[in-house]
Amino acid sequence: MKILTGIQSSGKLHIGNYFGAIKPMVDLQKDNELFTFIADYHALTTSKDSNEFRENTQEAVLDYLSLGIDINKTTFFLQSDVPQLMELYFILSKFTPMGLLERSHSYKDKKDKGIPASHALFSYPVLMAADILMFGTEIVPVGKDQKQHLEIAREIAKKFNNEYGNTFIVPDYIISEDTSIIPGINGQKMSKSYGNTIDIFLSEKELTKRCNKIITSTVEMGQPLDYEKSVIYQLSALFLDDNKRLELQDRYLSGKEGYGSLKGYLKDLIFTEFEEAREKKEFYKDNMDIVKDILSDGRKKAQSVANEKMIEVRHKIGLGIFSWIMFLAMEH
Ligand code: ADP
Ligand code: TRP
Repeated sequence: MKILTGIQSSGKLHIGNYFGAIKPMVDLQKDNELFTFIADYHALTTSKDSNEFRENTQEAVLDYLSLGIDINKTTFFLQSDVPQLMELYFILSKFTPMGLLERSHSYKDKKDKGIPASHALFSYPVLMAADILMFGTEIVPVGKDQKQHLEIAREIAKKFNNEYGNTFIVPDYIISEDTSIIPGINGQKMSKSYGNTIDIFLSEKELTKRCNKIITSTVEMGQPLDYEKSVIYQLSALFLDDNKRLELQDRYLSGKEGYGSLKGYLKDLIFTEFEEAREKKEFYKDNMDIVKDILSDGRKKAQSVANEKMIEVRHKIGLGIFSWIMFLAMEH
């Protein structure tokens, strides 16, 4: 299967990103052809400072490489290294009814949070459709919040195919039910924009502080704790198999433990899970030449697929006068 996943380079990665997007992707790369990219064009919709933006992009590249991207199996690249996406984005916007975008929750949410309502923000799902359709993607693994964007991409693909013949694969998506919405330290969806994240690459000290900030209910000493409602439990469970989860549930119900020690346990789970990733990240930081070569390989592979697709698209919609020559050359 051809699978694509993108992540916005708009800040430090957190556990919600990991379980909602990265881990499913890392697992899938074993048996599938994977395209993974840092969505820096998308991140531009909310960026103000170019230095910070560049640093975020670099961080995201290092993060992804450290968290399990296998460059022998996966085409890993920066979105802005494939400017053909911009052309497809515009072409696809002709196949995007305004109503489809006007109904977008994500646009409304971002606007309500005070992000200026620019055209880029409004048309964000069309660029996402371009990312997906360009590479012949069959499946996109995403968090629940991206579901509507995937529906939009499917509609756009169908509309183009109806008008110009079969050109784009209509993509499916996978939403991992277990981990659909990871809560943040205040119990709301974990998100950079809510300031409630637990970041993956925190030092042990920072991680301890963060875990200690998780909201809890007041319970008298000796009383059982309601694990189902506990954010500490919900986060811990992400790192545990079924048996370990049952053991942890017993600890909550025993009445012998307070939230303090359970927060400490969560901290240990997180810190151990990402130990190898922290080491890899240090390695890549010290060897940026290797990172540059990896991105350059990814760019070449992604551009080559994109060039072929754009020849086909341009020919089908009648852009240019001699596009059919390139199209015929491509087919033989
Ligand atoms: P944020 O909400 O922090 O800005 P992004 O929008 O950059 O995160 O999300 C990047 C990826 O991580 C998306 O695929 C998204 O669905 C997933 N993701 C982000 N937060 C969560 C969460 N709390 N639970 C599950 N998946 C999430
Ligand atoms: N919008 C996605 C997010 O915020 C990032 C993204 C951009 C993406 N293009 C994509 C994800 C294509 C999957 C497929 O997480």
